[in-house]
Amino acid sequence: MRRIALLTSGGDAPGMNAAIRAVVRTAIYHHLEVVGVIRGYQGLLKPDFISLHLRSVSNIIGQGGTILKTARCKEFFTPEGREKGVKHLREQGIEGLIVIGGNGSFYGAHLLSTENRFPVIGIPATIDNDIIGTDFSIGSDTAVNTALSAIDKIRDTVSSMERIFVVEVMGRKEGYIALRVGLGGGAEDVLVPQTEYDIERMCEEIKEGRRKGKLSWIIIVSEGVAGSREVASLIEEFTGFETRSITLGHIQRGGSPTAMDRILASRLGKEAVEALLKGETDKMVGIVGEKIKLVELTYACAKERKEKSRRDREIYSLVKILAT
Ligand code: F6P
Repeated sequence: MRRIALLTSGGDAPGMNAAIRAVVRTAIYHHLEVVGVIRGYQGLLKPDFISLHLRSVSNIIGQGGTILKTARCKEFFTPEGREKGVKHLREQGIEGLIVIGGNGSFYGAHLLSTENRFPVIGIPATIDNDIIGTDFSIGSDTAVNTALSAIDKIRDTVSSMERIFVVEVMGRKEGYIALRVGLGGGAEDVLVPQTEYDIERMCEEIKEGRRKGKLSWIIIVSEGVAGSREVASLIEEFTGFETRSITLGHIQRGGSPTAMDRILASRLGKEAVEALLKGETDKMVGIVGEKIKLVELTYACAKERKEKSRRDREIYSLVKILAT
């Protein structure tokens, strides 16, 4: 193998740049040439390629976003689109591709690799942490910390004005961010898609709490459940107490990556290059415990999330125990 390509795809995540840096520098260390694909799969189709050198990735380890840009690309989800993408890679003498992204990007990578017999390795990067086969995806730790610091600020007004506040966080169909900030931020309740929630029961608890002298509440809602406004108006309707709401939105995707995300990105970036060199394909590099693991891309995108669901239920019950 002489030449590889690299792209970032789907929603940007803090730490993608640290992964780009690690891939480029590890590849050059192993005497490979590296090509960056601009705007994810869109750049494969156009094609829009740039050469990446040691100095192309200087001083990006602490920057959020991705220097390669990213996009969601519908055309790539047709067999013709993928064939065109691989043709453009082969025309440039590229022999392997590294895809930094989440679930949707990995599904595309799996199809590209199997339909066209093209070596592909995925690096998990999404704030949602909804990929199977890795304890963490790049960006999720930063997003949790960003949301937590916003919630700490909201708590100042919640406690000073004795209010009920509903805070909506991102996370697509997973409540990873919601549960972690719920526990770390001392929330009174967390509504997530993967555990049962009952808004009427929660409102009864609020009324009971007020009767006993508890005056302020922070309720975290994951975007996969409902909007913060919707939940706040239901609380007002059932309890009669004024309730404020806020949606944290895309601030959770931005900012400088935490130490944990930078370290993870650096380790996974190196392993992805070496996996390609060992002839691996259609796999993702993940971290389980402290160990780097290679798992099938189809497994990474699977719906079966028993282990994660068990952990989520444990975290939810701890939130409730500590919120009393
Ligand atoms: O997957 C990351 C994520 O931020 C999700 O949490 C959210 O649902 C989605 O992307 C938002 O996507 P967009 O920026 O395209 O609106």
